[in-house]
Amino acid sequence: MDDRSFGAERRKQEHLAPFRRGGVAAREATTWLECVRLVHCAVPDLSVADVDLSASFAGRTLRAPLFVTGMTGGTPEARLLNAEVARVAGRLGIGFGLGSQRAMLEDPDLASTYEVRAAAPDVFLAGNIGGVQLASLPLNAVARMLEAVGADALCVHLNPAQELVQPEGDRDFRGVLDAIRRAVRGLDVPVIVKEVGAGISRETALRLRDAGVRCLDVAGVGGTSWVGVEAVRRGRESDPELRALWDWGVPTAAAVAEVADLGMEVIASGGVRTGVEAARALALGASVAGVAAPVAGAWFEGGEEAVERVLSRMIEGVRAAFVLTGSRTIADLRAAPRVVTGPLREWIEARTPGRDRPAGGGAG
Ligand SMILES: Cc1cc2nc3c(=O)[nH]c(=O)nc-3n(C[C@H](O)[C@H](O)[C@H](O)COP(=O)(O)O)c2cc1C
Repeated sequence: MDDRSFGAERRKQEHLAPFRRGGVAAREATTWLECVRLVHCAVPDLSVADVDLSASFAGRTLRAPLFVTGMTGGTPEARLLNAEVARVAGRLGIGFGLGSQRAMLEDPDLASTYEVRAAAPDVFLAGNIGGVQLASLPLNAVARMLEAVGADALCVHLNPAQELVQPEGDRDFRGVLDAIRRAVRGLDVPVIVKEVGAGISRETALRLRDAGVRCLDVAGVGGTSWVGVEAVRRGRESDPELRALWDWGVPTAAAVAEVADLGMEVIASGGVRTGVEAARALALGASVAGVAAPVAGAWFEGGEEAVERVLSRMIEGVRAAFVLTGSRTIADLRAAPRVVTGPLREWIEARTPGRDRPAGGGAG
């Protein structure tokens, strides 16, 4: 998300470009959410109006278990995208994340491109900074950056795969965990640690939990590929090394299963494209589902209205999955019967031996 030799503003423009044309997805990998089969209930003993989609996350109650995860800032176009998408998220009662705020740290005049409070006074708003950058900043600068936009939480993004394939990307990831520990202790808003499409493993989550982190966005494999975005940006789509890393990481469903029993709150993101997929992630133990590329795509196609259409349809998809499993609440959905099949099942089994509790809370 960050690089050193381009201005953060110009880099953001380049990174948004592919999302006008549908984004850059995984080549062959999938999220493995298709391996989570929710067992159909033909006699749901509830009315659609009884379904309670509310979800608690990072100290807030969202009206539906959905989060638009961080995308952009720093350009005039980003200003409009942020304000319009945040307004929709506010209306729907779901979460909204800003893209990396590095540009406004480099040039304070760009702060207004992250300003969404006028459009969305009540939305649950997450600020955003890269882990490597967090490690180089005094905490009071981070606190000021969050205050300037009225953020309710800070997302710290980890994107080592993307950095490594950028010639000008970061090469030194030391100190990030310590910086996260300091941020958790020193900031008065919750810290959400997120990947950007390569997933978070159980081992990583445990280290983050030891550092005091309570909220994760696993952002796994199966959706946007940032190695892919870099390959496209440089016209290197056929480079074998880039192709080999394109789908690198932990698929979204596996990442959720890995961290589900750690007592952390989890955003399941990375390739979540329908409400039913979101419900499958919730059944595995996620607190909410996150989505980015389809929201950018909808905004480029039809602005605020199109974004509202896409997100409302996803929420209705979640509601349908609740009804068709006879679930009134997220807790009911987690307890509803499901079958875990295929590679996700194998992954969970392979990762379980020797543990006191199975990854995924005994999924399958
Ligand atoms: C256009 C775009 C820009 C993004 N920029 C950021 C960013 O600045 N910071 C960040 O943490 N994640 C960023 N992301 C990553 C998303 O938040 C998300 O983790 C990832 O795209 C996976 O979700 P998806 O498959 O639904 O797109 C960006 C995603 C998109 C589509």
